[in-house]
Amino acid sequence: MRVLVTGGAGYIGSITTRLLLDAGHDVVVLDSLERGHIAAVDQRAWFVHSGLDAPSVLAQVVAGVNVVIHIAGYIDTAESQTNPALYFQKNLIEPSVMLDRMIAYGARRIVYSSTAAVYGEPSTVPITEEAATRPVNAYGDSKLAFERVIAAGVKAGALESVVFRYFNVAGAMPDGSLGEAHDPETHIVPRLIAAAREPEPRFTVYGNDYPTPDGTCVRDYVHVLDLAIAHLAAVEYLAAGEASVTLNLGSGRGYSNLEVVRACEAVTGKSITVDHGPRRDGDPAVLTASNERAREVLGWKPERDLGTMVTDAWRWHRSHPRGYDEVPEGV
Ligand SMILES: NC(=O)c1ccc[n+]([C@@H]2O[C@H](COP(=O)([O-])OP(=O)(O)OC[C@H]3O[C@@H](n4cnc5c(N)ncnc54)[C@H](O)[C@@H]3O)[C@@H](O)[C@H]2O)c1
Repeated sequence: MRVLVTGGAGYIGSITTRLLLDAGHDVVVLDSLERGHIAAVDQRAWFVHSGLDAPSVLAQVVAGVNVVIHIAGYIDTAESQTNPALYFQKNLIEPSVMLDRMIAYGARRIVYSSTAAVYGEPSTVPITEEAATRPVNAYGDSKLAFERVIAAGVKAGALESVVFRYFNVAGAMPDGSLGEAHDPETHIVPRLIAAAREPEPRFTVYGNDYPTPDGTCVRDYVHVLDLAIAHLAAVEYLAAGEASVTLNLGSGRGYSNLEVVRACEAVTGKSITVDHGPRRDGDPAVLTASNERAREVLGWKPERDLGTMVTDAWRWHRSHPRGYDEVPEGV
């Protein structure tokens, strides 16, 4: 099938593209490179260097595409709070231009990378897809707003969709060739790995008085490879004409911040001193996914545990200490 991947020069998009190509799909990557890396784009893909809001480019790219996997987006929750308009521009307005062109050119099927941030602070865990959506930051708001645009298109009979709500994505391509390279990096696993590479590793954990076994926040981590595999299943699902659906992608298991620190210590062989900082606003005690629906609908199941995520991330960071700009030093 011909698949268009937006954001294919980013962390999740590059790994999804790799898997699609390996499975024999014909892949077009559309990425502006504003937060991505050309070196992450698989050379077997047709790369289109463009934003999502260029109708003349989309006219050439979208026609004949069987499924669009829309991964491109801005992801920094703190930045979204200081510059909300930017997040609505990148996560809602520009993607809406693309969606309009998709419909105009008869590309009806979309897989969308949404986020657990649409749930905000849930009243119960594990979180099912039926839970109320009450985002606590502009990032979650903007991602939810685009979910609603897609839902309206589905209701109008113009689109078929799989909306994925990712939990915390971690890990790297197991061969160390592709991985996470955000600037700034806000995710705990790469930040701990960066700390472990320092001469005197230290890490601040926010909050140690939560009602959890060790007092620190509990989150659900899913390996980026398991996530990418779900996208391949979604492509087949939509191509088979199945009904539009919203699915959580998480492991269904929670790990506390301290457990993640210990996992990084075990993998890197470094001892990391933990400093306890105050709680951060809007950080719930526990966020874990119910992934029952994804298991049932797609036959998907996460296979890789936290230790594997950290091991793969460590391999990637050792071979690419400065992300994609650095010549590998060998693993
Ligand atoms: N990383 C996570 O843990 C996580 C969790 C939940 C949801 N998500 C969602 O997954 C998606 C990808 O996350 P990631 O970690 O791979 O991010 P990333 O920053 O590594 O990749 C995003 C890519 O999209 C491109 N892009 C951004 N805006 C664009 C635009 N307007 N036009 C064209 N290209 C554009 C960037 O250049 C970049 O290559 C995002 O939509 C995010 O909301 C990620």
